[in-house]
Amino acid sequence: MSLENFGTNLNIAVIGASGGIGDAFLKRLIQSNQVETLYGFSRKAPLLTHKTLMYHPLDLTNESSIKAAARAIPDHIKLDMIIVATGILHDDDLQPEKGLRDLSLRHFQDVFAINSFGPALVMKYFLPKLHKDKRSVFAALSARVGSISDNRLGGWYAYRASKAALNMLIKNAAIEIARRYKHSVIIGLHPGTVDTNLSKPFQGSVPHQTLFSPEYAVEKMLSVINEITVEQSGKIFDYAGEEIIP
Ligand SMILES: NC(=O)c1ccc[n+]([C@@H]2O[C@H](COP(=O)([O-])OP(=O)(O)OC[C@H]3O[C@@H](n4cnc5c(N)ncnc54)[C@H](OP(=O)(O)O)[C@@H]3O)[C@@H](O)[C@H]2O)c1
Repeated sequence: MSLENFGTNLNIAVIGASGGIGDAFLKRLIQSNQVETLYGFSRKAPLLTHKTLMYHPLDLTNESSIKAAARAIPDHIKLDMIIVATGILHDDDLQPEKGLRDLSLRHFQDVFAINSFGPALVMKYFLPKLHKDKRSVFAALSARVGSISDNRLGGWYAYRASKAALNMLIKNAAIEIARRYKHSVIIGLHPGTVDTNLSKPFQGSVPHQTLFSPEYAVEKMLSVINEITVEQSGKIFDYAGEEIIP
């Protein structure tokens, strides 16, 4: 797939460079002769190294670190694409809640810090680096389970709510950014269920044919990013380009 709606000499930032989906974005974009420089950010360095890839650490729970990461991109460089592929569903101390009895303030704080507040602060420091006179796209990985109207199963309180909050933050930023960056598009993307560490513990109930490889999900999302228009800014789309209703 080519990014024919973007031109050449592209500068692209991928936040979440060490993750399953972030790594697949880097691998795919490194192969593109349209890309000049890739800027990768995450706490852990990506496994991948390449002459077009500049890595800088970034911790979403530390605002100074997000600010320093944005400043690591030279002032004269404008970004054609910003992809936020960070997120948390579980870790060693945190499992998605099955019911109200599992709710905890600490859990909410940790999940919202990474899934909602972090990406919002990334928007604060990275969106001013978009082009003012040329098409550029900011896409943050959201999730279908963040849709309130689509919620039929319940559970996963913090994750669902943090993604719903992210969707609102995306809409807000899109309204504001449209005033000064008239060719920019700000969207959320649902990648499908993708075979990464994030989904590992929950893959048992997923039919084999609906569990995507990170490479497949990234190919589909890059098609959406390539086709997306300014009129669609502020919305959430799945990997096939279908809008997800909030
Ligand atoms: N996989 C799926 O089935 C699926 C489905 C729907 C939506 N999504 C969404 O897709 C996105 C990417 O998920 P994934 O499957 O690629 O998960 P993953 O493999 O677990 O990657 C998560 C990424 O988030 C980064 N991260 C976590 N905490 C961070 C922090 N405090 N500061 C900076 N970076 C942090 C990790 O980097 P470091 O640990 O190095 O910091 C890593 O790069 C998430 O938003 C997820 O909600 C995934």
